[in-house]
Amino acid sequence: MGSGAPIGIFDSGLGGLSVTASIHALLPSEELSYFGDSANAPYGTKPPEMVAQRCMDIGDAFMDQGVKAMVIACNTATSVCVEEMRRRYPVPIIGMEPALKPACQRGGGLPQRVIVTATPLTLKEDRFSRLMDRFKATHTIFAQPCPDLVRIVESGHLDDHDLVDATLHKYLDRYDLDTMDSIVLGCTHFVFFKERIASLCPPGLALMDGNEGTARHLRDLLSEAGRLNESEAPGRVHIANSDSSPRIIEYSRHLLETCKS
Ligand code: DGL
Repeated sequence: MGSGAPIGIFDSGLGGLSVTASIHALLPSEELSYFGDSANAPYGTKPPEMVAQRCMDIGDAFMDQGVKAMVIACNTATSVCVEEMRRRYPVPIIGMEPALKPACQRGGGLPQRVIVTATPLTLKEDRFSRLMDRFKATHTIFAQPCPDLVRIVESGHLDDHDLVDATLHKYLDRYDLDTMDSIVLGCTHFVFFKERIASLCPPGLALMDGNEGTARHLRDLLSEAGRLNESEAPGRVHIANSDSSPRIIEYSRHLLETCKS
């Protein structure tokens, strides 16, 4: 497989398109093959074994396509099975985890108060407990599951501002946001709500996501392996989805464009 081979990117559904936009912006020559598993979304409220099985099926299909790397554009799938995927596939596997480390570090040594939003499964998995263990002695961390935000994206209701605001209030009103330093968007679907969340927050509160960090990590791994696509031609973003309804690819393209602007 040459450096012109595609990079496989997947998520439980449409959230990973926000990561795809960051990858395309940083690595515009790369061919990107996106797979959204919307027919099986959400992953965040399913048993881990079921999520792992879907990830292996998707990974096998990517290997058949000859991908040179895979990006698990899903915090939930990463928590469940990134290690298993790394053992199973002979290509670099890039996972994602809630951006708690940069959220804590942005205080320059001062203790931070951080809300980590994610799916129920991400917050339940050992991987997240291990991440918390690294920071909880110094910082105050609140873990907030927000499963309804995933449903809003998947059902195409992102523009329903009343629904979006009511859902955000349901999850965030229990916190005094004036006392917080940052909110981590620990699910790739949540990145689509960035502006609406920011409108509820005091100006100094930072919203942290892992999308650009993931794109840079992918670039560094491909560069070390001598596998970056050096072509001058613009790379394409191919989108596929397990949901066969006609709206899904058009809606995916729309979401990808939303993230670019
Ligand atoms: N987008 C996913 C994540 O980053 C999962 C959403 C879901 O399917 O519950 O965790």
